[in-house]
Amino acid sequence: MSNYHIKHLEEYYQVYRKSIREPENFWEEIAEEHFMWRKKWDKVLSWDFSKPEVKWFEGAKLNITENCIDRHLATRGDKTAILFEPNNPSEEAEHITYYQLYKRVNQFANVLKEQGIKKGDRVCIYLPMIPELAISVLACARIGAIHSVVFAGFSAIALSTRINDSDCNMVITSDGSYRGTKTIDLKGIVDEALESCDGVHTVLVAKRTNSDITMKDGRDHWLTPLLDAASVDCKAEIMDAEDPLFILYTSGSTGKPKGMVHTTAGYMVYTAYTFKNVFQYKEDDIYWCTADIGWITGHSYIVYGPLANGSTTVMFEGVPSYPDFGRFWEIIDKHKINQFYTAPTAIRALAKEGVGLVEKHDLSSLKVLGSVGEPINEEAWHWYNDNIGKKKSPIVDTWWQTETGGIMITPIPFVTPTKPTYATLPFPGIQPALMDENGQEITGNQVDGRLCIKFPWPSMARTIWGNHQRYKDTYFSAFKNQYFTGDGALRDEVGYYRITGRVDDVIIVSGHNLGTAPIEDAVNEHPAVAESAIVGFPHDIKGNALYGYVILKETGKGRDQNNLKMEINQIITEQIGPIAKLDKIQFTSGLPKTRSGKIMRRILRKIACKETDNLGDTSTLLNPEVVQEIMDHSL
Ligand code: PRX
Repeated sequence: MSNYHIKHLEEYYQVYRKSIREPENFWEEIAEEHFMWRKKWDKVLSWDFSKPEVKWFEGAKLNITENCIDRHLATRGDKTAILFEPNNPSEEAEHITYYQLYKRVNQFANVLKEQGIKKGDRVCIYLPMIPELAISVLACARIGAIHSVVFAGFSAIALSTRINDSDCNMVITSDGSYRGTKTIDLKGIVDEALESCDGVHTVLVAKRTNSDITMKDGRDHWLTPLLDAASVDCKAEIMDAEDPLFILYTSGSTGKPKGMVHTTAGYMVYTAYTFKNVFQYKEDDIYWCTADIGWITGHSYIVYGPLANGSTTVMFEGVPSYPDFGRFWEIIDKHKINQFYTAPTAIRALAKEGVGLVEKHDLSSLKVLGSVGEPINEEAWHWYNDNIGKKKSPIVDTWWQTETGGIMITPIPFVTPTKPTYATLPFPGIQPALMDENGQEITGNQVDGRLCIKFPWPSMARTIWGNHQRYKDTYFSAFKNQYFTGDGALRDEVGYYRITGRVDDVIIVSGHNLGTAPIEDAVNEHPAVAESAIVGFPHDIKGNALYGYVILKETGKGRDQNNLKMEINQIITEQIGPIAKLDKIQFTSGLPKTRSGKIMRRILRKIACKETDNLGDTSTLLNPEVVQEIMDHSL
């Protein structure tokens, strides 16, 4: 018997030990007992981190939607699968049962087929948080098409880069989207993006805002009439365990975004198993993750993990501040939410508004609180624990990444004693290692180092779309035979992990991963900019914010600085999206560089963080005099 549901601490340790000693037996038992297979695997695991190549459940045949939908119909057909809460609180919430979801996914899948989409084709989904988003994701999976969801806050240029990188031939979007009081012209953004995407032959458009949009003849189709005409039966495509399920882009410290490729069986098993345990989901619970499906958190813990467990998962279209900062608490009260999963940046923003708005609502349904996306600081942890959980709902501080597919280091609620700011213990099957700068593993407790994972787990990304070498270079080259996370961590006296933050040039702003290089590229596009360097600095709400040091060309020097700053942020918004805007821009005559011409970001970071007491040795710089100038004018 597998230990699918861990209920106390000794059991955790026992399960964990088994998962390390006999990983294949461990995962095989879980896969065997809790999922629906068309054919079982020939081999549980084969792996070689030097290539790197990892295969789980090779030879198995399945369709993930049969696991997320069909197999629940007999016992949960009338249970709500997706509970949609609209942006506007006076619009009625929509309960989509498992049976309705089955029909809607099948209809959508038939529409995809009619439009020429086949197994293995890439479909870009650029939708707001409306039911069509989850349904189109599942419809792709139903027919074996690879979905590539692009967060609907990304700009036209960011969207077209992603469409072209993975050669998508269809885009699914909506006329517009609602975000609080704003209506956003999504279709207009798609139209602009597609000017540079020759491969896209079809655009399917969901109606949401009734905005006045242009439909291009022969390319664009309204979804509703197509869905209405489609059959509610669609046989699931039988997929190999290692067939790609989706591509999801994440920023790297350099270069264009990386299309992380996740495959079918391992991803399903791991997200389902983690969901069950990390949220201690029980049959009639209502679970709500506030992330957007445009990020990995939404893929794994709004769609696949919850549905694989036959859960009720909430999709919220709006923002935490509309109609006021009490919206989250109002929704928890209204739908009697049992598990609530959000990001530290949201907690900090809501904490700032005071407890008055919290106290207006009954939060007594809550059992488990989750946090994800960035380190949760002590103050935010206590505010969440005291005011939302009323000290009775454990906080699961879940550490993981787009690349890991599922939660890796986390407490199990009611099982693992929590400790503020600590993600605590590795989930069964996860073997973390802390490495020193010389590539040696640091053993023992009360140590810190670079966080690696030394053994494969089922939901790890298998490659970067179209660039396996980059996958190897980014994750498997820094430390031999280890997956390198890019994060630093420390391990305390009892073996709990605390994530200390990125050790590369990725900055997490409001829980969003931003690579500095692509933003610098955007800044440098401004005709008056000669060069730029971007670093992070601590921000009360966002966790980190961006600080740009910019050298102007001669032509820019006489210009109004505020206008220049606005224009620079405008270019960033166009190239990437508003999330990447710079909070501070300092114009400078130079940037500190090594003799080989490398920008010394360490110094810039310290100045941005106002930690100028110990800048380290600056005498080896090519231009040490510039450091004083930058300090004198720092913002
Ligand atoms: O630095 C870590 C941080 O977010 C990074 C991964 O970002 P992304 O791929 O966008 O996925 C976010 C959602 C899973 C990590 O490398 N991070 C994520 N969760 C935590 C965290 N840092 C500290 N504590 C966490 N709980």
